[in-house]
Amino acid sequence: MNRLAKIRIAFVVFSFLSLSDRVWALGVFGKVQIDDWITYEEPIALNKLLRNISASGTVKGTVLASPSQASPNYYYHWVRDAGLVMSEIVARYQTAFRPDLKNQYFEMLVDYINFSKLNQKTPNLSGGLGEPKFNVDGTAYMESWGRPQDDGPAIRSSTLISLAKVWLKEGKESLVREMLYDGSSNSVIKQDLEYVASHWRNTSFELWEEVKGHHFHTRMVQYRSLREGAELAEALGDPKAGHWYLAQALEMETEIERHWNSNKRILVSTLDRDDGLDYKFSELDSAVVLGVLHGYTPEGVFTFSSDRVLATVKALEDVFYRLYPINRNGQPGIAIGRYPEDRYDGYSSGGTGNPWFINTTAFAEFYFRLAQELEMKPEIKINSINRNFYQELTPRREKHTAYKKGSPEYLQTIKAIRRKGDAFLERVKYHIDGSGSMSEQINRESGYMQGARDLTWSYAAFLSALRYR
Ligand code: NOJ
Ligand code: NOJ
Repeated sequence: MNRLAKIRIAFVVFSFLSLSDRVWALGVFGKVQIDDWITYEEPIALNKLLRNISASGTVKGTVLASPSQASPNYYYHWVRDAGLVMSEIVARYQTAFRPDLKNQYFEMLVDYINFSKLNQKTPNLSGGLGEPKFNVDGTAYMESWGRPQDDGPAIRSSTLISLAKVWLKEGKESLVREMLYDGSSNSVIKQDLEYVASHWRNTSFELWEEVKGHHFHTRMVQYRSLREGAELAEALGDPKAGHWYLAQALEMETEIERHWNSNKRILVSTLDRDDGLDYKFSELDSAVVLGVLHGYTPEGVFTFSSDRVLATVKALEDVFYRLYPINRNGQPGIAIGRYPEDRYDGYSSGGTGNPWFINTTAFAEFYFRLAQELEMKPEIKINSINRNFYQELTPRREKHTAYKKGSPEYLQTIKAIRRKGDAFLERVKYHIDGSGSMSEQINRESGYMQGARDLTWSYAAFLSALRYR
């Protein structure tokens, strides 16, 4: 049968379906399409990510934020970007089946450890481990910049702790002690943990490198590193350090809770601002969602299903939906930016920032991980704080209720959450070019990519979302 005949038959069948079956059929069709695209895009994203690690002309272990050397110049090793990118490599190392691949990832991780050790001992303008970025020959960046950025050492240590756990499982304890943690303060993980444990009370610049204060995102990643660090220290016979890290994490909990603003009904991104930009009036920032992802621990104050997190997610979606014209072009999913008042690369043309790939895929990942977390719970509770979030996802409209595990409402809600996660990936699919590249941003009006090309973090965030899908 030729293609046209098939399409005709499909149309006839479709016209006989009831309205709800049509919605279902389109859903299935949409899913097939997105599945196909993911199968196509995943290896492309991985290859493009790998090209930016230890690229020629850089010291081994350098993770380029982007190969772009002008407008913007992202040809540096950012501690934060690198930590997030290398956590993808840890995940792939762990599951790699082919020995040559496993070895290749192993070498990359060793280079990253060595480069990180070099960063830690290189004197810099932050005067400590909060230095945000290094030159690709390993020397310090000596120009003015938003520093220190204290999420960096926290993220780096969490990545290395996850590697330590994998190595321990593989029976490589001596390698862990030699390369990662031996209880001495010189080991790479311990240096970061000591820094986090003794600096978390200070203000620092946040992941967007613009505002100095106490940030939800920074706090979340600091909390996670201290929690995980405490466990690792215990496991490796360094209980005193372990107790200290845990005590710091526990003290941080009330500080993290302070980010809930009960008037605005959102988790605000920054408290106690003492330097940097001062025009973030809405206090809405998708960095909060990134904080929940990057800083997740099962014991944490806020996890995916926390009602306060859900309220914030919903508020962010609403604001970005209204702000960016491309969000009303009839395509699925909402393109997400950093924060509504963003003036970086997109202010001169009269508007307010652009959506970014890392933020849009973060929302996809958020929904996938929310679905997983809810599946572990006995029920889904709707209350006055999370009601708006659940409104479009639950079949019924009660104001306060609970859907018991296994009930039709419960199952439909989980399904709708996963579908919504996919919609963010469809957004990404719509805006990338034919070669499968991802830059940093998406122009809010034209929908074309803009900002640093082949942003390594864009690929890492995409691959990370897929791992939870
Ligand atoms: C570069 C930073 O990386 C970016 O986050 C910031 O918005 C601009 N500088 C403007 O300060
Ligand atoms: C600007 C972003 O705001 C920041 O988070 C990132 O670390 C750098 N670009 C490098 O990608």
